[in-house]
Amino acid sequence: MTHDFAIRETAPRDLAQVLALYPQAFPDEELRPLVSALIEEQAGVLSLATFDGDALVAHVLFTMCGTAESDRDGALLGPLGVMPSHQRQGLGSSLVRAGLERLREDGVRQVFVLGDPAYYGRFGFVRERRVRTPYPVPKEWAEAWRSLALAAIPPISPGRLSLPEPWMNAALWGP
Ligand SMILES: CC(C)(COP(=O)(O)OP(=O)(O)OC[C@H]1O[C@@H](n2cnc3c(N)ncnc32)[C@H](O)[C@@H]1OP(=O)(O)O)[C@@H](O)C(=O)NCCC(=O)NCCS
Repeated sequence: MTHDFAIRETAPRDLAQVLALYPQAFPDEELRPLVSALIEEQAGVLSLATFDGDALVAHVLFTMCGTAESDRDGALLGPLGVMPSHQRQGLGSSLVRAGLERLREDGVRQVFVLGDPAYYGRFGFVRERRVRTPYPVPKEWAEAWRSLALAAIPPISPGRLSLPEPWMNAALWGP
């Protein structure tokens, strides 16, 4: 049987399915307050999901960000989750790639992520040293702070990343 997967931006009617995915993908982490607060922000947040028919099976958020008022052409990737039933079938990768494509079209110059170096390395994310996380991350996570340049023009200015309120919680940046 072939599956018909579709990627699209989420709408308010999808929120319940988005929030149902996170405890399944991350059984040891409570990400729902962050995810719902970011989705409510609307402006400056890209919320994309993969659907298997009507069922939401993967979701990713990108939050627009930057280091200075005049330099806001960055985006932070995360969280990204795939339903356990649908993991390791390429859905996470295709969702990330769709998001990056969309951000490139929107003029985003650099995308940041705090995530597994092996997983994000496959999209071309490399260790980020010029732009710092909003809160210090533990030394052993240094490899996990990565970025991907989307444009030929220079990446955003060095400095500490400035993000909307839902991300300004030290617990999200440490174990
Ligand atoms: C991590 C996750 C987003 C990957 O999405 P996915 O659709 O399952 O993965 P894809 O099919 O796109 O890619 C599969 C490849 O990624 C790698 N991979 C998958 N999960 C991985 C993980 N947790 N860590 C490192 N690499 C992983 C593997 O190399 C895999 O290739 P293989 O099947 O040939 O071994 C998904 O498995 C998930 O939601 N996991 C639980 C939540 C989580 O850990 N999220 C982390 C994102 S910040």
